[in-house]
Amino acid sequence: MFVAAIVVLVLVDGGLIYAGIKFRDRPGHTAQQFHGHNFLELLWTVVPTIMVISFSVLSFQKLNVMNDTSGAGMTVNVQGQQWTWIMNYPKEDRFKLTDGTFLQGAQELHIPVNMKVHIQLSSKDVIHSFWVPNIGGKKDAVPGRATDLWIQADRPGTYKGQCFEFCGTGHADMLITLIVHTPDDYGTWIKSALTEANRLNDPATKTGRESFLALPCTGCHTVLGTTAAGKVGPDLTHIASKKSIAGGLVSPVNEDTLTRWIHDPQALKPTTQMPNYHLSDQQVHDIVQWLLTLK
Ligand code: CUA
Repeated sequence: MFVAAIVVLVLVDGGLIYAGIKFRDRPGHTAQQFHGHNFLELLWTVVPTIMVISFSVLSFQKLNVMNDTSGAGMTVNVQGQQWTWIMNYPKEDRFKLTDGTFLQGAQELHIPVNMKVHIQLSSKDVIHSFWVPNIGGKKDAVPGRATDLWIQADRPGTYKGQCFEFCGTGHADMLITLIVHTPDDYGTWIKSALTEANRLNDPATKTGRESFLALPCTGCHTVLGTTAAGKVGPDLTHIASKKSIAGGLVSPVNEDTLTRWIHDPQALKPTTQMPNYHLSDQQVHDIVQWLLTLK
């Protein structure tokens, strides 16, 4: 299309410039006015029509290839939500956690090189759009409707992507990081991701973890290895190893300070943006028990 467009550009603009110079009004030559030229008018109607029809046919053929998700080596369910992407890896044994669930990730998508990967898209709230420009096409994730596309990377590496449908105030931060591994590397990555996820999925802190992930906490906070990927508040991945919370105002980090903080953040730091969700004592207790394992 680009080559054809260049040819058209050169012919049309070349002709325009040539005619402008050659037939201009100047000493010794009078510019002429005339109207109508059946052959030329036919030419510049018929040629573009044929070109547009040809491009349509070619595009539809390519669209079939782009939409053909058959023969994919694996399928990842990708769910958009304000404002992150949840990656659900296939329900295969190699992605299975000790509690019987399957590996999930947020924002980062790990795939092997040279494999056609089928991406099934869904959305929890509003329309988002999945796009990793260097790897493949763009597709909307629409609530209540299944859409899909496929991607394939020819070289290992890290590729940046971005939600491409305005979806609210966090839209610009709704990034996608696609990490493409060599086959060996991919096995290693799965192992370490499973170890990390199993640690976070410890049954002893299950209630607290599930409360945290179900509450609006995830909109602001990140805990690597979980679906919490908010960017507004501090990253809690290693909160239990931190010396203080609330921007240094509250220390040390222990059961007592965390409990008081979640119960009423403003009581400890009046200017904090963290809302008081009026959680029950039990909920706060469970969440704190879980946070204390994030070393
Ligand atoms: Cu999601 Cu923009």
